[in-house]
Amino acid sequence: MAHIAPLAQPITLKLSGKVIKNRLYRTPLSEYASSYDEDNVENCELADGGAGLICTGNIPIHRDNLENYNNAVLDINNPWDPVEAFRPAVKAAKSRGALFLPQLQFPGRQVPEFLNVNPKSSSSEQLPPCLNKTYGKPSPLTKAEIEDLKRRYVWAAEVLAKAGADGIILHASHGYIMQQFLSPLINKRTDEYGGSLENRARFILEVVNAIKEKLPSDRFVIAAKLNCQDFIEGGTSFAEQCVVIKWLEDAGVDFFDISGGTYASPAWRGNIMKELAERPSQKERGRCVRSTSF
Ligand SMILES: Cc1cc2nc3c(=O)[nH]c(=O)nc-3n(C[C@H](O)[C@H](O)[C@H](O)COP(=O)(O)O)c2cc1C
Repeated sequence: MAHIAPLAQPITLKLSGKVIKNRLYRTPLSEYASSYDEDNVENCELADGGAGLICTGNIPIHRDNLENYNNAVLDINNPWDPVEAFRPAVKAAKSRGALFLPQLQFPGRQVPEFLNVNPKSSSSEQLPPCLNKTYGKPSPLTKAEIEDLKRRYVWAAEVLAKAGADGIILHASHGYIMQQFLSPLINKRTDEYGGSLENRARFILEVVNAIKEKLPSDRFVIAAKLNCQDFIEGGTSFAEQCVVIKWLEDAGVDFFDISGGTYASPAWRGNIMKELAERPSQKERGRCVRSTSF
């Protein structure tokens, strides 16, 4: 058998049967940090890096609930045609054979106060100041708002499927809404969405099931980014996350991107500002590696 270099080896996803052509993964990076330049589009093609799997940064599914300025937004109430708006970006991302998964997100309480003074969350636990920002006091999502959110996730996934995406990746890590349901530290609900692990995992499982009902997992990839743990006292633990991952796998999640931390314990950021300041290679990086912004 011919030797294939480890990074060049393809992976076939178990449920959808879709093939990731190599082991290079462009993890989700928020488009707010994009260096997209409309006058120099040919140098901004993410696909040219040759990654087998490309995810977008988080795409909020509610225009009044952004993660940050410059986010791409998929809102069911936007007046423009979202399929036509996303089709060129999907085509560009897939132009070198990558599997392409946009990331769907709702920030919940974890949004700077200057962007949203009245955020929603699983309950009313406020995020203390961190990352040099303050955060609004959240109100707990009502049952009707939970239903609306589920409908929005499904609608956004359907739009992206029509635009040609291979699937979606749910942002269920880093302290955003799905994490706010999973975390016993944040989720103080007393209804069927709070309390036991089964209840705290209900929201994400219902979203997965609702998407799968419209977009069967043998042809549309549902992936999820989850924390291994929150790295914060009383937050989600490794043991609980392992159980949730098993439930999600059984529900039809094709693969997981495992990360960790929240804004209050930002393990995933490393010491990014220090690194950027100290690494000479970063000066060149901005010129060579550019991300797409839609
Ligand atoms: C500026 C910046 C923006 C990011 N945006 C996102 C994002 O939109 N969605 C996401 O899931 N992760 C985002 N991340 C986290 C990375 O995808 C990734 O999780 C991080 O580099 C750490 O890698 P690890 O999760 O494998 O530990 C972002 C990280 C940085 C530094």
